[in-house]
Amino acid sequence: MESRIGRKLIIIAIDGPAASGKSTTARILAGRLGYTYIDTGAMYRAVTLRVIGAGLLDELRRDDSKVSGLLHDLIIEFRGDRVFLDGEDVSEAIRENSVSREVSFISSLKPVRDRLKELQQQMGAARGIVMDGRDIGTVVFPDAELKIFLVADPRERARRRHAELSLKGGCPGIPTVKDLEEEIRKRDRDDEERTHAPLKRHPEAVMVDTSKMTIEEQVGLVYDLAMQIVGQ
Ligand code: DC
Repeated sequence: MESRIGRKLIIIAIDGPAASGKSTTARILAGRLGYTYIDTGAMYRAVTLRVIGAGLLDELRRDDSKVSGLLHDLIIEFRGDRVFLDGEDVSEAIRENSVSREVSFISSLKPVRDRLKELQQQMGAARGIVMDGRDIGTVVFPDAELKIFLVADPRERARRRHAELSLKGGCPGIPTVKDLEEEIRKRDRDDEERTHAPLKRHPEAVMVDTSKMTIEEQVGLVYDLAMQIVGQ
């Protein structure tokens, strides 16, 4: 498939652990290439919000097969920077702590992964997308022309998250860098050790360690790799 200006349209899969710079890199890169950015973490967060909203969290801990009933009529859309669940803008709600605490559990459930994989494959079918997550290069689009695996030192990731939270201004409630590092290490373990679609690097994925890189450098590196594939 080709774009209007004759360039080949590709799929760029960006995977990596929490706070490694995936979404910032993916968003800017998509803008530069004129591609659509799809944040699959936001999709797992939206499902988690739906579960919490339906009051089903405790029941799912006892019997997780009940989650299937919540998935068949699920509608998740991206409009610009905003995320919509069943037509409602949930962009802020999905970032709340109540959702962050439970999203690892919800994203470990097979019916959830199967349904979101299906939706993600539909969203990317026209190609010309940058999709970020944990299993995009390994499971959702193993045929993606460019696969990137972003990593960064856990302490550095905690510092970045802290700076991000401080900028948002919730001063008294912000966890310390040390607490954030603990949280990040725990999420890494949960994501790497789960049975279904664990976080791991596809053998073809280009590993990029962003610990000492600026955003501009990260984006530049991936952009150059993409241009080698689509042509100048
Ligand atoms: O990228 P994020 O922190 O917003 O992701 C939220 C959670 O969703 C994270 O704990 C892992 C999970 N996730 C996943 O399992 N697979 C993906 N493709 C994306 C996110």
